[in-house]
Parts: sequence; structure tokens; C-alpha cells
Amino acid sequence: MDQIKLDKDMQQCKITVLFGRELCLRITKLIRGSSTFPVTTTIVLCLSLSFFVMTLGIFINNGARKFLFSDESYFLMPPLQPSSCSCCLCNNSSSAASLQPSPFKSSSGSRGLEDWMIGPEELWHEMSDEELMWRASMVPRISKYPNNRTRKVAFMFLSRGSLPLGPLWEMFFKGYAGLYSVYLHTSPEFTKEPPETSVFYKRKIPSKPVKWGQATMMNAERRLLANALLDFSNERFVLLSETCIPLFNFTTIYSYLINSNHSFVGSFDDPRPMGRGRYNKRMWPMISLSDWRKGNQWFEVHRKLAIEIVSDVTYYPIFQNHCKPPCYMDEHYLATIVTKTHPDINSNRSITWVDWSKGGSHPTRFVRKDVSEEFLNRMRHGFNCTYNGSMTTACFLFARKFQPNTLEPLLKLAPTLLGFNP
Ligand SMILES: *[C@@H]1O[C@H](CO)[C@@H](O)[C@H](O)[C@H]1NC(C)=O
Ligand SMILES: *[C@@H]1O[C@H](CO)[C@@H](O)[C@H](O)[C@H]1NC(C)=O
Ligand SMILES: *[C@@H]1O[C@H](CO)[C@@H](O)[C@H](O)[C@H]1NC(C)=O
Ligand SMILES: *[C@@H]1O[C@H](CO)[C@@H](O)[C@H](O)[C@H]1NC(C)=O
Ligand SMILES: *[C@@H]1O[C@H](CO)[C@@H](O)[C@H](O)[C@H]1NC(C)=O
Ligand SMILES: *[C@@H]1O[C@H](CO)[C@@H](O)[C@H](O)[C@H]1NC(C)=O
Ligand SMILES: *[C@@H]1O[C@H](CO)[C@@H](O)[C@H](O)[C@H]1NC(C)=O
Ligand SMILES: *[C@@H]1O[C@H](CO)[C@@H](O)[C@H](O)[C@H]1NC(C)=O
Repeated sequence: MDQIKLDKDMQQCKITVLFGRELCLRITKLIRGSSTFPVTTTIVLCLSLSFFVMTLGIFINNGARKFLFSDESYFLMPPLQPSSCSCCLCNNSSSAASLQPSPFKSSSGSRGLEDWMIGPEELWHEMSDEELMWRASMVPRISKYPNNRTRKVAFMFLSRGSLPLGPLWEMFFKGYAGLYSVYLHTSPEFTKEPPETSVFYKRKIPSKPVKWGQATMMNAERRLLANALLDFSNERFVLLSETCIPLFNFTTIYSYLINSNHSFVGSFDDPRPMGRGRYNKRMWPMISLSDWRKGNQWFEVHRKLAIEIVSDVTYYPIFQNHCKPPCYMDEHYLATIVTKTHPDINSNRSITWVDWSKGGSHPTRFVRKDVSEEFLNRMRHGFNCTYNGSMTTACFLFARKFQPNTLEPLLKLAPTLLGFNP
């Protein structure tokens, strides 16, 4: 509107000048033609007319100038206060925010690459799962990072509510800010927020209900991966539960994962009914019995594989339709598709220790009296496996299932045995 007004004023100004000149010429012609007026009269008339026109021009020009350079410079710098919405695209401030690329870090002026790579400071969003997976599936076409990207490990906790072993994890993470990110998927009713000093503070992602053994479990795992992928500095992604504990200190676990050439997705061919017996012929030809694998739900993957998992629109619907109890998606989906599509980048073993020795459909739960130095050391060094192509006894970095009453003895053992910062 204001722009239009200015244009009008300018036009008026031009018209006035043109009109003045035209008038002057006509009068001159008229006078010359009739030749009844004396020459001096003509000159005086013309001069005074020009003076009048010039004065009028200056007056109008000043008006426009004042408009242009006044304090409320509307045209030069549209004010961005959300209250006076001069941005023509947006009706309110929240839609203005969504038009910007992302609510990245740093409002303090610096807008370096780091501000665009590190994911949104606020984890909460209103994207649907479909929208989230699409956004998370994006990959830079230039594969070499232009800066010294600090690679982080994303610790993704899948839990019902609060984490009873939280204090052990707080101790584990202490002093390593910048090398990890924490994500928490809980049941939606759980809204309690830990204190601001906690590593879990505001790390909850938009969550949906999860039922044991059903597709909702796998949906939650993909939701965690997708949220963690939004942060480009996350390089490795570990899934953990509220009953998991770390078996080594942060530096050991970090370098074990970051330096490994392989992901750790448990995957093996189980010929028994609880393995191959769960294969559904309707999955054929996309998935054949020879593709079918089983594995521990608690996985660890690197970024490349995480992107493959959230972008899978081929196999995921097949599993959703044809792997229903007694086929458990969380035990077969990743094991099968990782082996089928990326066998070369998987170690085929899980790094989370679970005790299935007692049989049944749930692993052993450990209580207070089970926790001892000897017990923990057996999990830390009691196995043989390959790491990056060579033999090692450190095969497990995490273990489950630890009941809440194990917290106290674990906290006691942590500084010496696990080497946590006291
Ligand atoms: C702004 O609001 C008007 C009605 O109030 C609506 O017609 C228009 O589409 C809105 N524009 C945007 C960008 O949301
Ligand atoms: C602003 O826009 C958001 C969606 O972008 C909408 O949910 C909200 O109700 C709007 N607020 C007002 C005051 O129009
Ligand atoms: C990355 O770090 C190396 C060694 O520390 C340094 O030589 C190089 O200039 C750094 N590059 C950038 C883009 O910061
Ligand atoms: C972590 O543990 C390893 C051995 O397990 C030890 O060599 C290292 O010094 C520990 N790191 C810290 C920071 O305590
Ligand atoms: C594992 O292999 C990769 C690739 O060769 C190498 O970069 C990394 O240092 C190795 N890690 C260890 C712990 O040897
Ligand atoms: C690491 O993986 C890459 C490709 O996956 C492979 O070329 C390389 O040989 C591997 N290195 C080791 C030490 O396994
Ligand atoms: C994991 O299994 C796949 C398929 O069976 C195989 O190709 C791959 O070499 C295995 N990985 C390791 C580290 O043994
Ligand atoms: C691991 O390998 C070592 C040496 O090969 C052997 O002495 C030990 O018994 C093995 N441990 C297990 C649990 O198999």
C-alpha cells in the first residue's frame, strides 16, 4: 500500500513538471502566433510560470523524501516483530518460525555451519511419523564434511516412564558433553521432566504408545532413529532400555563405537520354530526364507545404516502386514533387512548382553544380590568375538535387565570397576 502511495506521488511530481513545461511552450507559441504581446511580457510570464512549477516540484519532492527516509522506514527494512506482521507471507509468529529452515542453535549472531548441522535445540515437534521419516532420510550429496565435525554417539532410550537407573547414566555421561546426544521415547502419558542439570532434561521426543512384541515397538525404534538423525553430528546410534547399564566408561564405549568399521545388529539364522518357524510365506518374493534372520532387539548402527532404516518403504510394510505375534517384528525386521541389504557393514552381533539361559520369552532380570565385581567382569571380558577383524574379549558394552534395586550396588562399583568419573 505504502509503495503504491510513493509511486503515485512520484508520478504526480513528474506530471506537474511536464504540465508546467507544456503550458509554457503553448503560451510562447500562442504569443508568437498572435504577436500582439510584447516580447518582455512573454519572458516575464514564462519565467514566473517556471518558478511556480519549480516550487511546486520541490514541495512534492520533499514530501516523498520525508516519507522515504523517515524513522519508520517501512520500505527499506521491514520490521520483524511478530506483533506487527509486515511479513506478507505469515499470519502469526509460529507460522513465521516454521518458514525458517529450522530453529537451530545460536541466536547470538554467529551463523556458522555448526548452527545448521546440529539439530534443533528443541526436540519437540509436531511432525507426523511420515513427515519425520522423510525429513530424516535426507543425505548431503557432498559426502566429505567441510569442517572438523565432532562425531557424536546418540544414546536412544526406549522406556515406559522414568529411568530408575538414571543416576548411573548421569555419572557415565558426566564430563563428556559434546560427544553424545540423548533421546528418550516414553509412553505418551509420562510427562515428568527431570531437573535442568540432568542429561535427560528436555530430551524426550514426541512418542506414541508401545505394546510389547507388536509393530508399535519397531515404530518407536524408527522414531528414535529419525529424531536422532536430524542432528548431523550424530554418527552412531545405540538403542537402550530403562533396564540397561553401561559396562565400560564413556571414553572406552565412545572409541569402540566411533572407530568400528561395523554396525552391531544381532543377526543369525535360527532353524528352530522360534526362528525360521516365524517366517510367513506371504512375504515372498520380496523376502525369502533364506533371507530370514533373528536377532537381539537392542541394536547399534552407524549413520549410513540408520538412514537406510528410516527410508525403508519397501520391506517395512511387508513386515507390518505379515510379521505379527508369534512373529515379533523387533526380533526379525532389522536382523533380516540389514543382512539382506548391507551384509558387509554388519558385525552380526549385538553389543548388549542379555541372559536368555533360563529360557522362556523374557530374559533374566537381575536384582540387587546379583551385582558383584565378578559378575560384571564376566560380561566385560568373558567372551570371544571379532572387532574390526581382530579377536577381542570386550564383546559387550551394555547389559540388561537390571531391576531398580541394583542401582545402589552399581553406583558403588562404578568409580573403580567401570572407571566412571567419581
Ligand atoms: C492468513 O489468514 C487468512 C485469513 O485470516 C488466510 O486466508 C490466509 O491463507 C492466511 N495466510 C497464510 C500464509 O497462512
Ligand atoms: C498460528 O499458526 C499456527 C500454525 O502454523 C496455528 O496452530 C495457530 O493456531 C495460529 N495462531 C493464531 C493466533 O492464528
Ligand atoms: C581441522 O583440523 C585440522 C587439524 O586440527 C586443521 O589443520 C584444519 O585446518 C581444520 N579444518 C577446519 C575447516 O577447521
Ligand atoms: C576408561 O577405562 C579405560 C580402561 O577400561 C581406562 O584405560 C581409561 O583411562 C578410562 N578413562 C577414564 C577417563 O577414566
Ligand atoms: C577399525 O577399522 C577402521 C577402518 O579401517 C579404522 O579406521 C579404525 O581405526 C579401526 N579401529 C580400531 C580400533 O582398530
Ligand atoms: C572397513 O570397511 C570398508 C568398507 O566397508 C572396507 O573397505 C575396509 O577394508 C574395512 N576395513 C577394515 C579394517 O575392516
Ligand atoms: C555378517 O553376515 C553376513 C551375511 O551372512 C556376512 O556377509 C558378513 O560377512 C558377516 N559379517 C561379519 C563381520 O562376519
Ligand atoms: C576365548 O579364547 C581364549 C583363547 O583362545 C580361550 O582361552 C578362552 O577359553 C575363550 N573364552 C571363551 C568364553 O570361549
